[in-house]
Parts: sequence; C-alpha cells; structure tokens
Amino acid sequence: MRTLLADHPLVAHKLTLLRDARSDTAAFRALADELVTLLAYEATREIRVTEVAVTTPVGTATGAKLAQPVPLIVPVLRAGIGMLDGMTRLLPMASVGFVGMMRDEKSLVASTYANRLPADLTGRDTFVLDPMLATGGTLVTVIGLLADRGARSVTAICLLAAPEGLARVEEAFPGGGGAGVPAVRVVTGAIDERLNDKGYIVPGLGDAGDRLFGEI
Ligand code: URA
Repeated sequence: MRTLLADHPLVAHKLTLLRDARSDTAAFRALADELVTLLAYEATREIRVTEVAVTTPVGTATGAKLAQPVPLIVPVLRAGIGMLDGMTRLLPMASVGFVGMMRDEKSLVASTYANRLPADLTGRDTFVLDPMLATGGTLVTVIGLLADRGARSVTAICLLAAPEGLARVEEAFPGGGGAGVPAVRVVTGAIDERLNDKGYIVPGLGDAGDRLFGEI
C-alpha cells in the first residue's frame, strides 16, 4: 500500500474550513466537493490511457484517451456520497458501484449492509470514496471486495486519515500489487493525530455523514 499526502496549500485551506465546527451543511458539502476534485487530480495520476492522434486546426498531435475498461468509482455509503459529484465531474465516463458499511458504535466493527458492485472487475482501476479513514476496518473490507473481483488497482480518496487506519490498511495490503493482487493507494488531504475511544479522528472534523446530511 502506498500513501500519498496531498500537502497542497489549497487543500490545507479548504480542509481548515471543512474542520471548522461553525461551517454549516451547505458550506461543508461545497468544501467536500471541491476537496475531492483536488485530491482526485493526484489520485488519477496513474490511471491508464491509450495514445491517440488528434487533428488540430494546424496539424496532428499525439494525445491520450482513458483506456478501456473504464474506471469504477465506489462511494462508501453514506458519507462517500458527498464526494461522488466531485469525482464524476472529473471522470464522467466512469461507472459507479456502491458499498454500504455501518459500524457498531460499541465494538467499532464495520459490517456491510449493501453491495452493488460489478461481478467482474478484471483489469479495472477503481476509486473508493470515503471521507474519513478512521480504524481502517471499512476500507480493508471494501478493498477486499474489489480485490476478490479482480480489480487492477484500488485508490482510496479520503479527506482525512488517522495513523491507526493507515497502519491497518498497510497491514492488510502490504505489497505493491501484481499477481492477482490490486495495487492499493490511499490519497488523503491530512494525516491527523489519533483516534479517540469512540473511533473518531482527533482533531478530525466530527461525523462526516452527519455534517453532510444531518443526524439520523
Ligand atoms: N467517521 C467520521 O465521520 N468521523 C470520524 O472522525 C471517524 C469516522
């Protein structure tokens, strides 16, 4: 597993506003949307392209076109939905699959309640959207689902990550990919201090799902 920390001043600026407890739902949604677009720029750096020729008004240029099969974007329900528009704006040709995960508030163990993924992901680049990489349990499960279906790569885009979560993903997927195992990367805007005893990232930003969609 590789970790890419997008330590860009614009990312830091928008993350600071996102963390601010005074940012309301409208501001939080807009910031999450903008941040995913910035992180997606890094996350798609290794996406496969094929060379194409393009005729310009004055000649022929060698260009690039996204390769087939098209990438798959996987928002993790519910908070990952807040990152979907920003990602599909950059990759409008991508397909979208869904995984629903919820965690037990006491044990902090994540379980899958929805799985709408293509059965065969052979050779496909996949992008998992989950704003908070906390314990890492959710991400390890989702990467496992994508790996079982043959994904070529899994890149998780997380607005914030905890060291504990990164370590858990690294432990589960230590290699660089190949031989039937996807290349796994985590792209994040910041690596925070730690988790608290409720599994929240500290200092973090609170409950991303609640801040995006309201408490349920
Ligand atoms: N999920 C959240 O929404 N926030 C955290 O801090 C951890 C997990």
